[in-house]
Amino acid sequence: MNKETQPANRFTNPPPLDAVMNDFFKTHNLPKAVMPSNPVQKVLRGQKALVTGANSGIGEGVALALAHAGADVVINYVSHPEAADALVQEIKSHGANAYAHQCDVSKEDQVQAMIRKMCDEFGTIDILVNNAGIQMDSPFDQMTLAQWQTVLNVNLTGQFLCAREAVREFKRRGVREEISCAAGKIICMSSVHDVIPWAGHVNYATSKGGIQMMMKSIAQEVAEQRIRVNAVAPGAIRTPINMQAWSTPEAYHALMKLVPYKRIGEPEDIGRAVVWLASDDSDYVHGTTIYVDGGMTLYPGFETGG
Ligand code: BGC
Repeated sequence: MNKETQPANRFTNPPPLDAVMNDFFKTHNLPKAVMPSNPVQKVLRGQKALVTGANSGIGEGVALALAHAGADVVINYVSHPEAADALVQEIKSHGANAYAHQCDVSKEDQVQAMIRKMCDEFGTIDILVNNAGIQMDSPFDQMTLAQWQTVLNVNLTGQFLCAREAVREFKRRGVREEISCAAGKIICMSSVHDVIPWAGHVNYATSKGGIQMMMKSIAQEVAEQRIRVNAVAPGAIRTPINMQAWSTPEAYHALMKLVPYKRIGEPEDIGRAVVWLASDDSDYVHGTTIYVDGGMTLYPGFETGG
């Protein structure tokens, strides 16, 4: 894709990070980061996936990873249709099928219509990636009810509505052995903030803590129908949502104090975890959260303290 046609909220001109990272490794006399380059296996061939909030950041990386693994993908978005269309074209150019669907995941009728259309277009849904999420940060005593409710509505109620519609379809259809051992797979995008409290982000951390218990309770309830439900909890991933935390050398150096593995995460890191959780390679993995965070949940303050 050439630069002129790149839509606004995909990374058209990401702040250059290589120099900042290399400077960090040099300053601290650390080995430089080598990124994985394993060949991608088509472990999701024949499967139909829905990724919510798929037109930027982690959702975009996940949608691409699922498509590279052989799945057809519905790109859900709420704004920036041009970004969703560009991603559809990119996926199609790699040989998978895709279309974009606008829907606010916090609205019941819109979610129901989205799943109905997916079943019409693609026949069914095999994989739901409950990814759509937002931050509306504020000091606690200044947080408005609207900021609280909007974040809870999108991040938590949105995951509930999409999961419920997906489970209805998984139960109706049942297992097709030639496609997957499971009748369906749900992957909830959580965050390290489902266990790490986050001052100034009480609404966001609460929504992620809620996802943890919602995911486990659904998992317990639907397991006997061969429906697998898990979560991925990303740490600091290089996306537009947290640009202020990595886009200057000072911010990047400060961020690395929270990351034992000493590199920022990339959407591809999350994409690989989601593909594994969606595939039969993880068939006995159920009701668990995989932290993809470079060790952020390891109490990095204790590297030197305590
Ligand atoms: C948030 C990011 C943050 C990261 C680590 C994520 O859930 O969306 O803004 O950088 O957690 O704190």
